[in-house]
Amino acid sequence: MNKNKMNKNIYTTGLKIENGRIWLLDQQALPHQELWLDATEPAVMIAAIKALKTRGAPLIGVSAALCLGWYSQEHTREEIETVAIQLKASRPTAVNLMWAVDRLLQCSVPLKTEALAILYEDITLCERMGKHGAALISDGDRILTHCNTGGLATAGIGTALGVIRTAWAQGKKIHVYVDETRPLLQGARLTTWELQQAGIPYTLITDNMAAMLMQQKKIDKVFLGADRVARNGDFANKIGTYSVAVNARYHQVPFYPVAPYSTIDLQCLTGECIPIEERAAEEVKGYGTTQWATADARTYNPAFDVTPAQLVTALVTDRGVFSSKALQEDALAVL
Ligand code: MRU
Repeated sequence: MNKNKMNKNIYTTGLKIENGRIWLLDQQALPHQELWLDATEPAVMIAAIKALKTRGAPLIGVSAALCLGWYSQEHTREEIETVAIQLKASRPTAVNLMWAVDRLLQCSVPLKTEALAILYEDITLCERMGKHGAALISDGDRILTHCNTGGLATAGIGTALGVIRTAWAQGKKIHVYVDETRPLLQGARLTTWELQQAGIPYTLITDNMAAMLMQQKKIDKVFLGADRVARNGDFANKIGTYSVAVNARYHQVPFYPVAPYSTIDLQCLTGECIPIEERAAEEVKGYGTTQWATADARTYNPAFDVTPAQLVTALVTDRGVFSSKALQEDALAVL
């Protein structure tokens, strides 16, 4: 990478590098406030990842890599390794986080250079997923999506939302149904914000309306993201994905997860070995300062679920589209 490219300011949807500092668009404040947070210091970055101020599998990988890359400039190898462990421990399910930090620890160039390479690579991966996935979309399709998989979840145009944006840019007149994605409302707060800006027509629904829409034949296809794909094609994604997959199979609606190679964990043979993050009770009992449940209500709050590969029509990656049959025949092993 040339030196000019490395030193200039960089702007993506959810992250920017400005005047030599790493800034995150605080995704907990969206859509009502656009607040930028200086997360150059590891303690701030780790807290931001835990609080979902930066989020989405590829973007937490990119954010952590940049943080470690910047930190490496004035710290010893021992200090870098300590911070690397802390960054990797900040969220357990999205494998992009571990993948990006490990890639920095193993690289033979300055860590900052490698971190920027990961950022630029993610932009390209999104474009490739967009191209492969858009080929599956027809003019007039009504698409259901879950959580947020766009520019706020990656450094580029997104995974599933990148596919949707690409199809729209190709002139396909599509309509997107956005489910709200309880409990942290990434669909209602973030995906609507992105679609609004892109001028793509959408309708917001609550999570529990998806089955009825499928029953009424109002959904032609489902596109959503993944946080970790196991070698057999089972994948973890935002809680509620499995319900969408079951409903899609019952109603014979094609179901497509979209993920870059950095989300595929070949060490993980099946979905059973994917660690699932459990989050605070307050997220189920309310949102922000508004708590609607009884204060002492017992809760269970897994942030992700695992969808078995049998429910996948095809997996869209930057390296092409893997059919359900190919996934069952171990096609991911070559990635
Ligand atoms: O808890 P989040 O908001 O980080 O979860 C995000 C998702 O589940 C996305 O669907 C996933 O990261 C893939 S999108 C790039």
